[in-house]
Amino acid sequence: MTPAAAPLPDAPLPDAPGGRGARIGLLTGGGDCPGLNAVIRAVVRRGLADGRYSFVGFLHGWAGVLENQAIELTRQSTAGILPRGGTILGTSRTNPYAGGSDGTAAVRRTLSDRGVDALIPIGGEDTLGVALRLHRDGIPIVGVPKTIDNDLGGTDVTFGFQTAVQIATDAIDRLHTTAESHNRVMVVEVMGRHAGWIATHAGLAGGADAILVPERPFDIDEVVAHLRRRHASGRSFSIVVVAEGAAPREGTMQTHEDTETDAFGHPRLGGIGVTLEGEIELRTGFESRVTILGHVQRGGTPVAFDRVLATRFGVAAMEAVARERFGTMVALSGTDIVGVELEEALREPKLLDPELYETAELFFG
Ligand code: F6P
Repeated sequence: MTPAAAPLPDAPLPDAPGGRGARIGLLTGGGDCPGLNAVIRAVVRRGLADGRYSFVGFLHGWAGVLENQAIELTRQSTAGILPRGGTILGTSRTNPYAGGSDGTAAVRRTLSDRGVDALIPIGGEDTLGVALRLHRDGIPIVGVPKTIDNDLGGTDVTFGFQTAVQIATDAIDRLHTTAESHNRVMVVEVMGRHAGWIATHAGLAGGADAILVPERPFDIDEVVAHLRRRHASGRSFSIVVVAEGAAPREGTMQTHEDTETDAFGHPRLGGIGVTLEGEIELRTGFESRVTILGHVQRGGTPVAFDRVLATRFGVAAMEAVARERFGTMVALSGTDIVGVELEEALREPKLLDPELYETAELFFG
């Protein structure tokens, strides 16, 4: 582990290579996430406070680097963006290495053309995977972890996650009252490709009666038996939270496979909730409805926690660049902001803590 970036926000930054200021490139890649703008603002403000740094923002993730499309980032152009969702730079799932191609030369060309000394990509496993490859090719990079799914290794939490959990919890609260009024089973599908962090946090916070996550393939017979028991004991409705990446135990239930994949080879998810709604109604006779929260979880303003975390990440990323801690990613460890090797962070996804799931399970009444 690389030690934490300097904790004093007002401390002068060390000289960039050659004892001069430097030009820093930023980009946001992958799915958007509440807090991206807060990171951009924080990097720029931290660097400008020093007076020797200037900033260029590449548009639409790695696409902007490959196509040399960028805007100047200044105090003015980053003013007022702290509470704004999305990303002022735009994003995409462009992969410079898609289909066996090697985008390193194109990246180098753009960086040299723009006079960029170091790059700060803000993204999840895919965007930072590209960053790691570029770092190995000698490009100075410090990453900032982002995903509402919270499944990135090396950091306790990613910004955007708390916002997504709050949105999902609010939705579950609302679905409770309508479920109760109609005596229905409500299936709520939330995001979470590899991990059930959103499902479990929102399910726990919203008092879900069952939570299905990618880490634990489910048996539909067990889900149905549980709902029957619950309804037999006098409850007239149920809330089932399912992560989009949850899947049935092999051979226990037919699901719809989507074959369309993105530039990083990920299939488009979303749909397990619809299958569950049908199966639950068919097998129990309980009237069921599905709500797929989808991109609502990623849109809009970040909650305060995410604004603070994103700001701390941005400040630390700028300080890590100034200290030439290239090949690292800023991260949250307990309450501290630290730097971790990108290689280490990307080794494997951070899956759900089993203890947290067991706590949620206590309330599947
Ligand atoms: O950012 C990760 C994620 O939220 C996944 O949970 C989801 O599968 C994916 O993004 C969907 O993103 P999009 O529809 O933008 O490709």
